[in-house]
Amino acid sequence: MQRHWSNKNLVSDPLKPVGIFDSGYGGLTILEKIRERLPQFDYLYLGDNARTPYGTRSFEIVYEFTWQAVRKLFDEGCPLVILACNTASAKALRTIQQKNLPQTAPDNRVLGVIRPTVENVAVLTRSRHVGVVGTPGTILSDSYTLEIHKLFPDITVTGEACPMWVPLVENAEYDTPGADYFVRKHLDTLFAKDPQIDVVILGCTHYPLLINKIRKYLPDHVQILSQGEYVADSLADYLQRHPEMESRCTKNATVRFLTTEADDKFSTMASIFLAGNIDAQRITLD
Ligand code: DGL
Repeated sequence: MQRHWSNKNLVSDPLKPVGIFDSGYGGLTILEKIRERLPQFDYLYLGDNARTPYGTRSFEIVYEFTWQAVRKLFDEGCPLVILACNTASAKALRTIQQKNLPQTAPDNRVLGVIRPTVENVAVLTRSRHVGVVGTPGTILSDSYTLEIHKLFPDITVTGEACPMWVPLVENAEYDTPGADYFVRKHLDTLFAKDPQIDVVILGCTHYPLLINKIRKYLPDHVQILSQGEYVADSLADYLQRHPEMESRCTKNATVRFLTTEADDKFSTMASIFLAGNIDAQRITLD
């Protein structure tokens, strides 16, 4: 069914949307699951498409860009922002939570996607050997290993950085022979490092677009942990435990889209991710 995802503000009161941030289009896979779970809220999506990918950038740059985006979403009225990007969650979330928020926006909150994902890994793995695929930034940060070991120290975690997977998705090449080549290459390398893996975490919000290829090159018994539903469940749980935040977020079921790239380019590409018409608005970050 075609849906129309509007950027028009149809209500007279100022919106206080939940902000959803990603370096590009990948966070749309998270937005979709969050909207299915919590359709009543207003959402404001921001894709830093002009500066994507983040996965190969340094810690300092990812932090700087992410904080700029969060500030923009706060300025637009969002009391709560989800970093729907593993790279930003790995490299910027802690500093924003511990340093920036207390100084500049103590009543606002920023949440990431790594913790809600790893909380669910233990029930899926029998071999206690888990693989993680992600951007070089996410894998080199070791965030998944650290977070999994905080909760489940007995699980062996093996990461594989897949630098070409985000560009394949951002350029709509996710269903081509080129995608087959790069997906197979990295999954073969992952299983060569640890053949006992029985769960593979998609540690990048772009990767659900590659799921058919990923399934094709994984052994049948291996489960894929895709994070959208877990992040949505975790947000629902958070809002239930924090009624003061829940009541600050407005509920008119609207969705608006901001991008740092050309708005028509974003609208065309994002329509692939969300199967509907999208009106985006171009903004600049600084
Ligand atoms: N969707 C982002 C993530 O989950 C992609 C990062 C990038 O821009 O490389 O890590």
